[in-house]
Amino acid sequence: MYSKRKRMNTLLRQTLHTGALILAGTLIASCTRTAQPSGEQVYTQYCAACHDQPATRAPPREALAQLSPQRILRTLDFGTMMAVAYPIRRGDREVLAQYLGKGQDASAIAPAALCSADRNILAGASSAPAWKGWSPTTANTAFQPREASGLSADQVGNLRLKWAFGYAGDFIAFAAPTVSRGTLFVGSAGGAVHALDAQTGCTYWTYQAKGPVRTPPTLAGEDENPVLLFTDQVGGVYALEARTGREVWTMRVEEHEATRLSGAITVHEGIAFVPAASWEESRAVDPKYPCCTFRGSVSAVRISDGSVAWKTWLVDPPQKTGVSPAGTDLFGPSGVGVWSAPTVDAKRGLLYIGTGDNYTHPATPTSDAIVALDLQSGAIRWIRQTTADDVFNAMCARGGASNCGPDHDFAAPAMLVQTPSGRDVLIAGQKSGVVYGLDPDDEGRILWETRIGVGGTSGGVQWGMASDGSKVYASVADPVRTAGDQGSLTVGNAPFDPAKGGGLTALDVLTGNTLWHAVPAPCAPPRDGCSPAQPAAVSVIAGAVFSGSMDGHIRAFSADDGRVLWDFDTQRSFTTVNGVTAQGGSIDGPGAVVVNGMVYVNSGYPRLGGAPGNVLLAFGIDSNLP
Ligand code: HEC
Repeated sequence: MYSKRKRMNTLLRQTLHTGALILAGTLIASCTRTAQPSGEQVYTQYCAACHDQPATRAPPREALAQLSPQRILRTLDFGTMMAVAYPIRRGDREVLAQYLGKGQDASAIAPAALCSADRNILAGASSAPAWKGWSPTTANTAFQPREASGLSADQVGNLRLKWAFGYAGDFIAFAAPTVSRGTLFVGSAGGAVHALDAQTGCTYWTYQAKGPVRTPPTLAGEDENPVLLFTDQVGGVYALEARTGREVWTMRVEEHEATRLSGAITVHEGIAFVPAASWEESRAVDPKYPCCTFRGSVSAVRISDGSVAWKTWLVDPPQKTGVSPAGTDLFGPSGVGVWSAPTVDAKRGLLYIGTGDNYTHPATPTSDAIVALDLQSGAIRWIRQTTADDVFNAMCARGGASNCGPDHDFAAPAMLVQTPSGRDVLIAGQKSGVVYGLDPDDEGRILWETRIGVGGTSGGVQWGMASDGSKVYASVADPVRTAGDQGSLTVGNAPFDPAKGGGLTALDVLTGNTLWHAVPAPCAPPRDGCSPAQPAAVSVIAGAVFSGSMDGHIRAFSADDGRVLWDFDTQRSFTTVNGVTAQGGSIDGPGAVVVNGMVYVNSGYPRLGGAPGNVLLAFGIDSNLP
């Protein structure tokens, strides 16, 4: 200790002798590094690169302030930011969390929120109407037929709010619900997974996962002991007893520490198909990050015990390709994440996936493609790439990388549509703003392609389209920043053009011809942070199409001509059945889920500077209305 201080003094004196006072200050700071840095210093070093930079799509500092210090610590220790936080010492994390978080920690479930003894979990028959996982069927068309929706197009205009449920301690509501046998299962940004009564919203149980859960839970083995399957955003796969919330097994689907699971699991014949993407694309914003080594994949996991039946990576193992200007090793090929639910084609024995961009060179033929895998072995049967050489990471948006591609991922699941004539068409929508009709009998040959929007890194078709067999309903995001935007990003306050962006288009499944195009209403009143962009996934019932918007509106459009049948503004506060203070915001991510005359919608995903929120809304028909 003595000798250390002596050396420091010597350094200081030498420096003073040279007259470089500022340099002396720097030296002192680095010599006393073991001292506790301030929260501001930790933030500047590890967080500001993304959370003060809109191009990274990270929520800004004010949004983080709404969380409790405990919640931020969980995010760093085992949540979304785990991969970013691993070089940060525990003590520094605590100081950082105390400095950033100003909110209250989520309390335990209020006794009044629990279901009374006369309500029973999974009480309905296993044949009862359901919406399990991303879509009612593994064809991923997000179509709920009349018997199961319990709702006709004529009734849609009479939908009223029945109940609201608040996600305690969250400012993001991005999780897709699953409804089966009168029970609703939904995850949350805080990692709490809830089992609720679908009719009343009362709580049966809550389970705390190790990371944020945005994928819809799905059910398997329903006739005996139903198992609830879901993933978290940091690589975990979970199987719980659906009746009790007790763990059956958990596993990690990828070793890579930057794994990010955003795509829903698809279940087929005892197997859970788990798609994997990663955080690396945004971690590359750090010039010292050795970019990139993640390989997008799909794993076939046995539901019985969590073992892996097969696994297919979309790129070969990365090799060192060079050194960055910052002196860090670079690797490639990398990326080709799978961001959305796989689609099952049992007739052809295939599993379809949509892939994202490469993160680094060399580019591969598997990126920005629809890929058909063998359902039994996972072997790649064919690849239909629509954008070649799309190499993109967060450095591109900051001008720190060259040879960048357009970031035109397929982020929405491919839909296997059976048309009334009996012919199957595989439909895929891209962030480029183009929708494709592919021939599943001819290695995905392009039958037609139709541009429905401008497209971009956060534009075009984002989360999902829908089809009722004869039409494809595709909404576009395409949020437009107003001129004079200096790249600022404040929650609910980003400088969007209140009249530009969005749009819902109906295409003919067989030809791709545009049948109608509904233009969204501008934000009313025009307000900061409001965009009419429609990034959220689309859902369809017989005669009506549901589409949510960044302006907080959830609307139902007539499937015949695109006329608005119902419009509800979710951007306000709500009284909730679980007593949690809740607010609606931008609708982004998953689409509406329609079962048994009820429509469930999550509101509040502040991606890109949209409005935060933490509410699940349940709408139904008032029986005494005409
Ligand atoms: C490489 C970019 C990047 C860095 C660095 C980064 N973040 Fe994030 N962070 C993100 C993105 C992107 C999201 C949004 C996640 C989403 O939309 O799902 C996010 C979300 C979050 C959330 C909310 C997620 C939740 O649990 O609900 C918290 C809290 C957070 N970050 C804290 C931090 C802190 C603290 C640091 C510094 C130690 C940090 N982040 C560094 C990119 C980053």
